[in-house]
Amino acid sequence: MTDDPHADAVAGDVTPEDAADDPLAPGTVSLVGSGPGDPELLTVKARRRLAEADVVLHDKLPGPEILESIPAEKREDVGKRAGGERTSQGYTNDRLVELAEAGKAVVRLKGGDPFVFGRGGEEAEHLAAHGVPFEVVPGVTSPIAAPAAAGIPVTHRDHASSVSFVTGHEDPTKEESAVDWEALAATGGTVVVLMGVGKLPGYTAALREAGMDPATPVALVERGTWPGMRVATGTLDTAVDVRDEAGIEPPAIAVIGEVAAARERVLGFLRGRGDADATVDLRDDADPTVEGDAEGGSQ
Ligand SMILES: C[S@@+](CC[C@H](N)C(=O)[O-])C[C@H]1O[C@@H](n2cnc3c(N)ncnc32)[C@H](O)[C@@H]1O
Repeated sequence: MTDDPHADAVAGDVTPEDAADDPLAPGTVSLVGSGPGDPELLTVKARRRLAEADVVLHDKLPGPEILESIPAEKREDVGKRAGGERTSQGYTNDRLVELAEAGKAVVRLKGGDPFVFGRGGEEAEHLAAHGVPFEVVPGVTSPIAAPAAAGIPVTHRDHASSVSFVTGHEDPTKEESAVDWEALAATGGTVVVLMGVGKLPGYTAALREAGMDPATPVALVERGTWPGMRVATGTLDTAVDVRDEAGIEPPAIAVIGEVAAARERVLGFLRGRGDADATVDLRDDADPTVEGDAEGGSQ
């Protein structure tokens, strides 16, 4: 026996005593990270919070498998509203307060980790400002997990001693871009870009202009750990062609740096999820090929 109250949970066995010690109280909000999409990458605590919640506010990012595992009557989609419009952050903030004040045990489920490009920080501040007790349940974040599932380590003793997570949503040509692409090019470390499918041409050009070698390996990982995950690889020079040829769509991660080539060295022995791994490789020295099943492979 151990005194560690979490020992059972770590072993994957959540006892009723654990839950009774620390249940999600009525009137409380839990900001929960879902991980990248594979239900087995939900933490034990996230799974318990989902079971305890009266209502789960979510968008689409946790992925179909996790969302479908939550009873429909508990779910409230704050991603897109009828008509395809995005729900405003203001609406989500107010809804969290409203539900908590009505005495509900609320889970706000977010893809990956709630505090990594997830606006979880804003929600936490809003809850605090309204006197609503909340907690944060960290999640497995996609800029590490999606590359890892594709066989790409974001750091590597021989190739990268630093890694930067950046948003690709910013326009790199904007005068006051919040992302300093020049500084990133100078680090020599791995650059992992989230929300960077649409603006790929802009920031790959910005990195090249800042002096990054056009032959730097790039991998695009779409729907990492979901069924139908796809990976396309190229270089800083060919990344846009790779994206277009493969039809890579969000959610996807762009990994820029020598580590992106590590996948090739392990691919023969990398076990994927089923046969859903598709690869388009347009590196200068590679034959363009598409492998894997058809799910999403012909977009
Ligand atoms: C608003 S950010 C949220 C990031 C999230 N909080 C996290 O920690 O992973 C959304 C972006 O995360 C990335 N993303 C999230 N899940 C992903 C997945 N399973 N595969 C690839 N990219 C993913 C994509 O770049 C997507 O555009």
